Amino acid sequence: MYDVEKVRSDFTALQHGTYLNTGSIGAPADRVRRTYLDAYQEFALHSQDHFHTSFEGHTERIAQLAGFFGADPHEVTACTNASVAINIGVMGRDWQPGDHVVMSNEEHPSGYVPWYSLRDRVGIEITEVPLTNDADDIVAAIEAAMTPKTRMVFLSHVSCRTGLRIPVRPLADMIHQKGALFYLDGAQSAGQFAIDLHAYDCDFYSTSCHKWLHAPISSGLFYVKDAVLDRLKDSWCGPSSQFDFFAFLDGSKTFAQAFNHHAGRFEIGSVDCAKSVGVKAAVDYVNELGLENIAAHVKSLADPLKAELQSIPGVTLLTPTDEALHSNGIVAFTMDGIGAMSFRMRLHEDNKIFLRTIDELNATRASIALFTNQADLDLLLEHVRDTLKG
Ligand SMILES: Cc1ncc(COP(=O)(O)O)c(C=O)c1O
Repeated sequence: MYDVEKVRSDFTALQHGTYLNTGSIGAPADRVRRTYLDAYQEFALHSQDHFHTSFEGHTERIAQLAGFFGADPHEVTACTNASVAINIGVMGRDWQPGDHVVMSNEEHPSGYVPWYSLRDRVGIEITEVPLTNDADDIVAAIEAAMTPKTRMVFLSHVSCRTGLRIPVRPLADMIHQKGALFYLDGAQSAGQFAIDLHAYDCDFYSTSCHKWLHAPISSGLFYVKDAVLDRLKDSWCGPSSQFDFFAFLDGSKTFAQAFNHHAGRFEIGSVDCAKSVGVKAAVDYVNELGLENIAAHVKSLADPLKAELQSIPGVTLLTPTDEALHSNGIVAFTMDGIGAMSFRMRLHEDNKIFLRTIDELNATRASIALFTNQADLDLLLEHVRDTLKG
């Protein structure tokens, strides 16, 4: 039995208001925050041996993180956030003018911007595909947009706008059959439900751990499938890029032949070891609660919330209700005649209810997380009704 009130007692941050914005930043549990700060203090106090202690246990913690995502340790690296990870994967390919990329029209700016930068710098071509709330239609629409020049398909696992969850494996099979690579942006999926990257068969996956995994801010992960690892170039390099760094120093300079067969080569330079301690504490916390229990709890709140929103005149629900595209914690909606931003500001400033707007859709987005309770959502619904009444 999932005891949400007990979970809430683990988060002092919840005393400051009603927090419905985990899709942007997830609050860390008190014990995660303390573990992270203690780890940093420990390193800081032993700065005379800082170089060695700062790397201690880091590799083991990344390996554990890889296991959490159904990946092998050498396929995963830590990085600052999903945005940085996307740049590692996108900029590490050898793009040529006329190369074609397919993405949806529901990507986050961190997904769009690197591609449009490549369009302007290199001359790649981009097709944005509108997504519908039907799994078969999504696969068919992406397939129809692909051409013989399509080299990569880039899609959010869970849309940051509507919460739509795409059918990953059917997409991966179709994309590979057509000879392209598949980048899955998991910023909104990691921590919401179990992820099995080998079973998904995507070529790249990345996320920010500071959202639904409730890890310390500025912690991310980049995954590249073993079979693709050696085809990914290092747009930034350092000692970790090298198979044999000391041979390089000795003068062999065989750099190009010696890329490490390990995603850790993308984490160049000194690492923030305290951060990986904090991420481990967050993953341990989520594992203790159980991803299935968290997902069931979130669904038990999200389904009635969606139904309730749909019953309010003037509200349009943007989030799919279809089970196959079940979106877990993201619920987005518009209100006739109401500016989403002013609604958000009022909730925020007058009522200490924190959520996000999707400005391009004039929509409000609420995130239901592992600590959300019915009272949080009742409060939101009350404000939606009152606002529409005028
Ligand atoms: C789908 C998606 N991708 C990427 C990002 C970027 O995440 P970050 O700002 O943590 O790098 C976000 C952030 O909300 C997102 O929703």
